[in-house]
Amino acid sequence: MGLNVALDGPSGAGKSTIAKALAKKFGFVYVDTGALYRSIGLYVKRRGADTKSPEEVVPLLPDIRVELKYVDGSQRVILNGEDVSDVIRTPEISMAASDVSAIPAVREHLLDLQREIADTNDTVMDGRDIGTVILPNADVKIFMTASAEERAKRRYEELLAKGQDVSYDAILSDINQRDYNDTHRETAPLMKADDAIELDTTSMSIDEVVEKISEYIVAEEKEEEIPFRTIPAFRRYLYAVLRFVVSIPFKLIFNIKYEGNENVPQTGSVIIAGNHITWFDPILIAIKVKYISSYMAKAELFDIPVLGLGIKLVHGFPTRRNSADASALGRAIKYIRNGYNLTIFPEGTRMKGGKIGRAKSGVAYIASKSGVPVYPVGISYKGHLCFRRTIRVRFGKPIMPEELNLRSMSKTELKAAGEKIMSTIAELVK
Ligand code: DC
Repeated sequence: MGLNVALDGPSGAGKSTIAKALAKKFGFVYVDTGALYRSIGLYVKRRGADTKSPEEVVPLLPDIRVELKYVDGSQRVILNGEDVSDVIRTPEISMAASDVSAIPAVREHLLDLQREIADTNDTVMDGRDIGTVILPNADVKIFMTASAEERAKRRYEELLAKGQDVSYDAILSDINQRDYNDTHRETAPLMKADDAIELDTTSMSIDEVVEKISEYIVAEEKEEEIPFRTIPAFRRYLYAVLRFVVSIPFKLIFNIKYEGNENVPQTGSVIIAGNHITWFDPILIAIKVKYISSYMAKAELFDIPVLGLGIKLVHGFPTRRNSADASALGRAIKYIRNGYNLTIFPEGTRMKGGKIGRAKSGVAYIASKSGVPVYPVGISYKGHLCFRRTIRVRFGKPIMPEELNLRSMSKTELKAAGEKIMSTIAELVK
């Protein structure tokens, strides 16, 4: 998980110039997400389709493969094997990009690519929805603006310098039109994220903007070095109260037998991984582990009225099943760094009949990236789950991150590490 800087704002606010300068200064990867939409705009135009029409654009998407490559530190956009980095820079393609970017399927098509880059690199990513949609947990979020006239002037000068024959008035009207499109579309409109810092650059020089944003990055880098932050007292008290109240009915209804008490985590910033057999497994674990935890839960659960609220109160956050959900992984790591434990069920779903399923790769990834131990928990009961049934919850010795042998973080390594965690849990269930 890299340190990610999200730089959003309208066309021509100077994002790319600033992002490039920041990337160079900090040694981060610069990701120009506009280029991705431009490539799709280019493809659609070349195929003679209407860039505004979802009916014409969506069927073309399966034929479009966009990749980003870095040559001598600068980004190249590859469209189906062809380097289109230069041909996408015309006003015509700008407008085509703005058109296609309003189509939800186009945005979806480019989502994973953007998240993967951010997940594996320190990045400065510029776009329209980076802080709001693509990287809602970005470490630094900037919303850059400037007056439309100032932006038109900058783009005019930039294009002139490249030897393109352009008129200022045409550029200004293009900018106004694109502003309108980008802020009025239904999906991921250009919008300042609540936690973004707004920077009006109309009368600022490039150096001043770079300097200002650098301060935020430096501050964030310093924080990243502090591994464990302390959690505000009110959060801990609220968690303790909830934990107590919720535990009462479960202790009355079931006979919960805890084993391996010497292995129960006594600190924050660890991962607790259990097998998943009942919907209240998180509660069974929370009754025993005093330390405040965050929870990774299926996105669907958040839609259930009372339960959804309850999960949020105990710092639950959603993960989409069957997909490498980069944003959920990022959040998990943040919680751990901030001193919370993370309770997770690596199988991703409940298993019937006491079976042990396969682990999804998330748990190993989080353990390795956060560098904290995984405390395995085996949950089991015999027969039907009924009143006063004995449920055994057994804690095992922590698995240290180095035991997971994750060097390259390849799929094979992650799978093997996940299997190791699940087999340790399986031993505890026996
Ligand atoms: O940043 P740019 O001018 O190269 O972007 C071209 C178009 O792509 C812009 O009009 C809006 C769209 N875009 C977007 O919708 N979301 C992004 N993250 C980046 C660009």
